[in-house]
Amino acid sequence: NHYALILAGGVGSRFWPISRTVYPKQFIDIIGNGKTLIQETYQRLSKVCPKENIFILTNESYTQLVKEQLPDITDQQIVTEPVMRNTAPCIAYGCFKIESLNPDAVIVVAPSDQQILNEDAFINALDKSLKTATEHHCLVTLGIKPSRPDTGYGYIQYSDIVINNDFHKVKNFTEKPTLDIARGFIQSGDFLWNAGIFVWSAKSILKAFETYMPDLHDIFDDARLVYNTEQEVAHINQAYQHCINTSIDYGVMEKAGNVYVLPSDFGWSDLGTWASIYELSEKDGAGNAVNSNEKVIMQNSSNCVVNMPGNKLVILQGLNNYIVVEANDTLLICPRDQEQTVKQIVADVKSKF
Ligand code: GDD
Ligand code: MG
Repeated sequence: NHYALILAGGVGSRFWPISRTVYPKQFIDIIGNGKTLIQETYQRLSKVCPKENIFILTNESYTQLVKEQLPDITDQQIVTEPVMRNTAPCIAYGCFKIESLNPDAVIVVAPSDQQILNEDAFINALDKSLKTATEHHCLVTLGIKPSRPDTGYGYIQYSDIVINNDFHKVKNFTEKPTLDIARGFIQSGDFLWNAGIFVWSAKSILKAFETYMPDLHDIFDDARLVYNTEQEVAHINQAYQHCINTSIDYGVMEKAGNVYVLPSDFGWSDLGTWASIYELSEKDGAGNAVNSNEKVIMQNSSNCVVNMPGNKLVILQGLNNYIVVEANDTLLICPRDQEQTVKQIVADVKSKF
């Protein structure tokens, strides 16, 4: 009864200019170990549920990339969205589809843009979560001990109410708080980062959609008869246009009452932003993470993250706490603490170029 949905339809715009709409970060070998992020994700999840029960949720423009990178996956396992509407609609679609195959399904939902160093601990956490979600009909999310007031994450405040030894009832879920609020959360000590990895039974999540996102629920409920038939694609292409554009975090997780968090430690990093690359990189004596050719000269510069793949001579003088990244004929120079704005910049740029 164990299934997985891999979220692989985002464009990774905060990781720009390396991650681009035509070739987003989940299809890139960002860590440099010979495997792309989606390949790593698929391989990890195949240790938690049967390979034939793993579905890839993606935009139709990426189906070719998915097929190339995951040759074991059949066409039926690729669930395509005609337009980008963030994660709530695609998760609803995927969960309805799986429920129509198996009403007793228990589903892991996982992003495709993360690095996990301790795979055994990860598998163990998911095994426990699948058990808890089956027994208690709750929505389980995995929580990570926060290390900085990052405004790109969801923050989970947990209570002392515990089920199955380790699963804490969630008091509050706050998606992408402001910096001030994030700082307060970190200080208070009873918050975890949302890893974006969820476990729930098909029944529980469908119920949650019905309660908190009824319009979205009805769009996919109305399609029940077409799932896994020849009419599915045509019907969904039409219906999907009507879906709200929002994430599962805002749409369901912030509102639901039966959420439990498993505090987890499996060497998790979200490869979402330059801050994450900075954290993972080796630094020089001045705290610079330089991932480039030998022609980068840095003087009186500190705590920068520099990715310059070309052969230019690059001189950084007196630059502190900056991101300097070149890729795909584009150069980005941005203060490290303003990296969340890159997403908006890219949106603006796209309409111009
Ligand atoms: N299929 C599909 N369609 N996938 C999508 C879409 C979409 O429209 N939009 C995003 N995704 C995928 C991304 O490719 C990524 O793998 C995953 O869904 C999460 O989306 P992000 O855009 O990376 O979300 P986030 O990083 O801002 O926030 C989420 O993850 C954080 C941890 O990394 C939230 O769940 C946060 O609460 C969480 O802390
Ligand atoms: Mg992300």
